[in-house]
Amino acid sequence: CSISTTWADDVRRLARERDAIILAHNYQAPEIQDVADHVGDSLALARLAANSSASTIVLAGVHFMAETAALLCPDKTVLIPDAQAGCSLADSLTAEQLRAWKAEYPDAAVVTYVNTTAEVKAESDICCTSSNAVDVVNSLPADQEILFGPDQFLGAHVRRVTGRHNIHVWMGECHVHADISPTQLRDQVEANPDADLYIHPECGCTTSALWLTSNGDLPSERTHVLSTGGMLDAARTTRNRQVLVATETGMLHQLRQVNTDTTFTPINPDAVCPFMKMTTPEKLLRCLETGRDVVTVDPVLATKARTAVERMIAIGG
Ligand code: 13P
Ligand code: SF4
Repeated sequence: CSISTTWADDVRRLARERDAIILAHNYQAPEIQDVADHVGDSLALARLAANSSASTIVLAGVHFMAETAALLCPDKTVLIPDAQAGCSLADSLTAEQLRAWKAEYPDAAVVTYVNTTAEVKAESDICCTSSNAVDVVNSLPADQEILFGPDQFLGAHVRRVTGRHNIHVWMGECHVHADISPTQLRDQVEANPDADLYIHPECGCTTSALWLTSNGDLPSERTHVLSTGGMLDAARTTRNRQVLVATETGMLHQLRQVNTDTTFTPINPDAVCPFMKMTTPEKLLRCLETGRDVVTVDPVLATKARTAVERMIAIGG
């Protein structure tokens, strides 16, 4: 206990000395979440970075999140505890692939998830996150053809909610969310028949959840397709004492903190993102001590990519 207290004190002291703000994603390990200044979803972290007065931002998350902070804050130093912390979803659409896709549909608007590289954002008209994807798509004229990527499950969700048939969806996926299976979902719903379900739209089993709902096995008022930030908002006010959670398991730490009366059960307890867990206490401390790893984006690329991210932030959602 005294060791971890010393670690947390050292992290806080070094952050103060560096004029640094520590932003952690909801999927980070509990001790990293607890020491951070703010914990949030991708959209919240982008907004916090953009509005921060600190001269240094430490992004305890994955590389695309630090890149997004660097794009939005060209005058600040952006640090990440481990620059190797990638994202299988971001890797599923390269800038070259996007350029080829755009060439097939020259009149389409390009909407990409923030889980992309700066190069892909620079080729996009507007970005979105899981919490605002529907609002972003609805901000475009109804007859506007759209290329949506890289997540196929979020794309299918956006298609379903907006009712638009003019959205072409890239077939990428996050390996962590894709591995939360329909069978695991069905088994947990059967074992906990009164529970609410919070499901992240990146999950491969989102369609199965909605099928169970349409079948009457899972009442629609208890099925919630939510971003990680949306899950926290729902958890704060729920009266249900049982909630099943389909997303990366780091989320459970925040959920259990905001509502101590409800039991939150993961649909798949092995849904752990290896990239998110590359932020260890030792690496966070080293990052603050050494000022590494620095994340920068080429200025010309950054200007293009920033436009797409700022358009998203202006829409809100
Ligand atoms: P959100 O935090 O935007 O819900 O995204 C989830 C995610 O997979 C980030 O890596
Ligand atoms: Fe990427 Fe999936 Fe990990 Fe999120 S959970 S960082 S989408 S690999």
